[in-house]
Amino acid sequence: MNTRIQHHVVVLLAASLLIARAPVEAQTPLSVASPDARTEVDVAVRDGHLYYSIRRDGRALFLRSQLGFEFRSAPAIRDSLRITGSSRASLDTTWTQPWGEVANVRDHHNELRVSVEEASATGRKFDLVVRAFNDGVGFRYEVPAQSNLGEFEIMQELTEFSLADDAKAWWILSNRPRLDRSEMLYSNSPMSLIDSVQTPLTMQTRSGTFLVIHEANLVDYARMNLRGGRMENRTLHAALAPWADGSKVKGHTPFVTPWRTIQIADRAGDLAPAVLGLNLNPPNVLPSTDWIKPMKYIGIWWGMHIGTMTWASGPKHGATTANTKRYIDFAAANGFGGVLVEGWNVGWDGDWIANRNAFSFTKAYPDYDLPAIAAYAKQKGVKLIVHNETSGGIANYERQLDSAFALYHSLGLDAIKTGYVTDTVDGGHSHHSQFMVRHYRKVIETAAKYGIMLDVHEPIHDTGERRTYPNMMSREGARGQEYNAWGGEGGNPPEHETNLFFTRMLAGPMDFTPGIFDILIERGTGRPRRPEEPRVRTTLAKQLALYIVLYSPLQMAADLPENYEHQPAFQFIRDVAVDWDTTRVIDGRIGDYVIVARRERGKPNWFIGAITDEEGRTFDVPLSFLTKGQRYVAEIYADGPKANWLTNPLPVAISSRAVTSASTLHLVLAPGGGQAIRIRLAK
Ligand code: NOJ
Ligand code: CA
Repeated sequence: MNTRIQHHVVVLLAASLLIARAPVEAQTPLSVASPDARTEVDVAVRDGHLYYSIRRDGRALFLRSQLGFEFRSAPAIRDSLRITGSSRASLDTTWTQPWGEVANVRDHHNELRVSVEEASATGRKFDLVVRAFNDGVGFRYEVPAQSNLGEFEIMQELTEFSLADDAKAWWILSNRPRLDRSEMLYSNSPMSLIDSVQTPLTMQTRSGTFLVIHEANLVDYARMNLRGGRMENRTLHAALAPWADGSKVKGHTPFVTPWRTIQIADRAGDLAPAVLGLNLNPPNVLPSTDWIKPMKYIGIWWGMHIGTMTWASGPKHGATTANTKRYIDFAAANGFGGVLVEGWNVGWDGDWIANRNAFSFTKAYPDYDLPAIAAYAKQKGVKLIVHNETSGGIANYERQLDSAFALYHSLGLDAIKTGYVTDTVDGGHSHHSQFMVRHYRKVIETAAKYGIMLDVHEPIHDTGERRTYPNMMSREGARGQEYNAWGGEGGNPPEHETNLFFTRMLAGPMDFTPGIFDILIERGTGRPRRPEEPRVRTTLAKQLALYIVLYSPLQMAADLPENYEHQPAFQFIRDVAVDWDTTRVIDGRIGDYVIVARRERGKPNWFIGAITDEEGRTFDVPLSFLTKGQRYVAEIYADGPKANWLTNPLPVAISSRAVTSASTLHLVLAPGGGQAIRIRLAK
């Protein structure tokens, strides 16, 4: 027996001895603290119910919050529980990401494993595993194989999050028809008013601490949303997305749930980059990640959204051989790695959302010569990004997965963008049900097998899958740029991205698709627009800043190539990096503004992105993060004179100046504006 196991056993014996003597109601809480000792998690049984609670600097953050499950045709695991043992472990290790917001991630935590068993005749048992990190807490249920719990259907996970005060929360709704795709604007309110919301759920307590509830390592389970209690109730409940038959999770023991995660930070800016969830996912399983490369891309895409091209066949068909070659030429000339082509494959004619089973993922329209285009792209050093819109036709897609991915692989294509535009998927299951979690996982694994990188639109939220499968690059899963092209809903207001940074982006990279230069959408459509028509509510400089602020390893230059011609500001998009060694949030306030600095992976270059909501703002940014004694040049793309997102969005002032680590940059952001800066070594 090695010493670690011995220690385990000793702790276990000691704990069970202690418990054998103690009456069930009076079991002493077991505690685990973060390495910096600021965060403490208690696990305790009271009146047969199992609870956890969390303190920060000795002050309550989460009060007694209940744990357990309800099943179909079996009694709940909730009552008459008792703690039968516990064990501890600690880890301090650093691992390297193949790509990311930071190259190296430290996993430093203390773990407490609490064994729990029903005192009743059923005697079912599970472990609650808690990990306390300096940046937050993760816990999950681990349920071993046992005679009284084999096959099961979970109807409800009883996990609660009982806030100690009525924290302010920034949220989007969940579980509403048409809202299942996460493409909403953020609202904020006291958390006691929350009805049913998605995660990550960002909150700020009255004492100023920031909290983010989310989940990690969602593999074969339903996605978790959060449901509020009655009015004025400060308890949030796990709410799992359902199968069509109402059950939440179907399975058999042994099983583990995803980790329920709570990020904890003193400053909003300390929430990002979020690595807690990555630390709670298993390490990379791919034999090689050399083929996985972050890149910038352009695409036959915006034209469809502004109505000058169609996905469907016909006179405005965007995905033609000639048009694609033009895009490939532009990508090659400007150093872009990829060209996304939507509408290349048969199935778009008619109502493509309703006709989900008409999509072929191998058969191109006659005016799109896939092999010839793939060869042309290869010769130009550019990759085609293949588009697979499923409209939620899961069976139709899964039937074709292998043949489609094999075809792309044979043509040397190694990236796809998938899409799931629908309200309910095949069979009427929720978009975020276990059924869909299994599907998304299958796509990730199949793509890995064929050497394909993934960009998923209308996805399940990111729970850190990229650590295990680094081919899982980016997702949408929020209101992206596309909303600015459409009528009706009025696009995204200037504060939108300052909300995204502190909410959605804490889950993982987002394919927001920045870089619209034709802000009024006049040049693209060839006519002046009426004020009520869609436009992008931004300044041009802010579009540049989004490349730094909204992290994605696949970063699109979303506008039509012709809208970049003769635009000096386009140089920034050509220069900007997509992979980072370090990320520092200089300052930020949720829904108001954010300033981020990132150092390019393996290079001495820094980039700064600053964005604001509809208010103009100024900031002084000390460049103390630069290497001392080194001379640099800052290339600055600022809002030009009198720039204003509403009245004067286009002026960009481009300048450069010599800087060192002792310099301070004075940033002036227009209303709805931003600033993008590249800092490179002086020659
Ligand atoms: C929605 C996606 O977000 C968008 O990027 C895509 O163009 C359309 N679906 C069509 O698949
Ligand atoms: Ca979308």
